[in-house]
Amino acid sequence: MAEARAVVELLDRIPDPVFVVGDDERVLLANTAASNWYGNDLTGQLIYAVFRQPEALECIRLARQFQTGFETRIFVIRNEITTWFEISAGSIFASDLGVEGVVIHLKDVSKHHDLDQLRREFVANVSHELRSPLTSFSGIIETLKGQTWDDGETREKFLGLMESETRRMTRLVNDLLSLSKVETEERVRPTNEVDIVAIIRNSMDSALNMASSLGTKMTLNSSSESIRVPGDRFQLAQVANNLIENALKYGKRDSEIVLSCNLLRSAPGFDGAVAEFEVRDQSDGIEEFHILRLTERFYRVDKQRSRAVDGTGLGLAIVKHIVNRHRGKLAISSEIGVGSRFAVFLPACEESIGER
Ligand SMILES: Nc1ncnc2c1ncn2[C@@H]1O[C@H](COP(=O)(O)OP(=O)(O)OP(=O)(O)O)[C@@H](O)[C@H]1O
Ligand SMILES: [Mg+2]
Repeated sequence: MAEARAVVELLDRIPDPVFVVGDDERVLLANTAASNWYGNDLTGQLIYAVFRQPEALECIRLARQFQTGFETRIFVIRNEITTWFEISAGSIFASDLGVEGVVIHLKDVSKHHDLDQLRREFVANVSHELRSPLTSFSGIIETLKGQTWDDGETREKFLGLMESETRRMTRLVNDLLSLSKVETEERVRPTNEVDIVAIIRNSMDSALNMASSLGTKMTLNSSSESIRVPGDRFQLAQVANNLIENALKYGKRDSEIVLSCNLLRSAPGFDGAVAEFEVRDQSDGIEEFHILRLTERFYRVDKQRSRAVDGTGLGLAIVKHIVNRHRGKLAISSEIGVGSRFAVFLPACEESIGER
């Protein structure tokens, strides 16, 4: 029948799998995408032999029974890769075209599904991080209920605990707000001109106390007194603060941290001049496997050990988004037993070149 052929041709133009199932529950028509996923010779097969997932069959049954649209989500594993499909089923009555039954459309929603999964993990992580200080507070309150406030020593101890837990929680909330702000702004590139060398020097100065308490020496080498980049001063300071703080937190005591900032005429992947800001530390180093995941939210290497060091694992995620917003690049490398290098490349203002 010419009409039916036209329908098949039409369906073949659709890149997603599409089936039409007749009232006898057998496949009436299937397009090429459907054959790619479910095999050739689908026509005439019972729908139960094609779809094994009860949710899919239920969706098709409901569409037939109520003659309206129904949707569900299923997954198919092929070559160890999971693909998520959103199935929509709706009844169709086109007897003049020889098509009557239920039309089923499968849309690959794996990308959205992965995002949903990330969102769920994120919420679970945030809740977990917020619960720890709240549990401490509950414990402190319970203990203090039975105490007299005259005991100065106990009071100081608990106030100290409450102070550090409050600081932790404030920091987490601030980091979450920073992350959400920079994500929202990521499409808008900063236009102000700022001096990246001054920003790094400032961050280094603020970290000198922490460095001296760890016996660590910090130095800054720069090819120029000042290097101008289009940037957001506050956000670039956040980048420098986190990289310096990490080098101090995860580097060895009594070691050396070298910061450098240089203006490059060009760099792979950039059109013009580039400012390179680098932090090198001396530490046990980071395994390659972890390096790939460091910028994920809440990712911390060796959670047990990291717990002893203050932090939530949001710092590098914020750094990555800030660098993206500045259309820059972040490069991380490490040598086991030697130390790590965190380098940020930012497009620089062209006229900076002439001032060298
Ligand atoms: N210089 C470094 N040397 C070794 N490991 C590092 C270094 N910088 C980061 N890491 C590892 O990467 C993890 C993630 O770093 P990130 O800055 O995102 O989080 P954090 O420092 O744990 O917490 P936050 O920055 O939110 O306070 C750290 O927990 C640590 O395990
Ligand atoms: Mg950090």
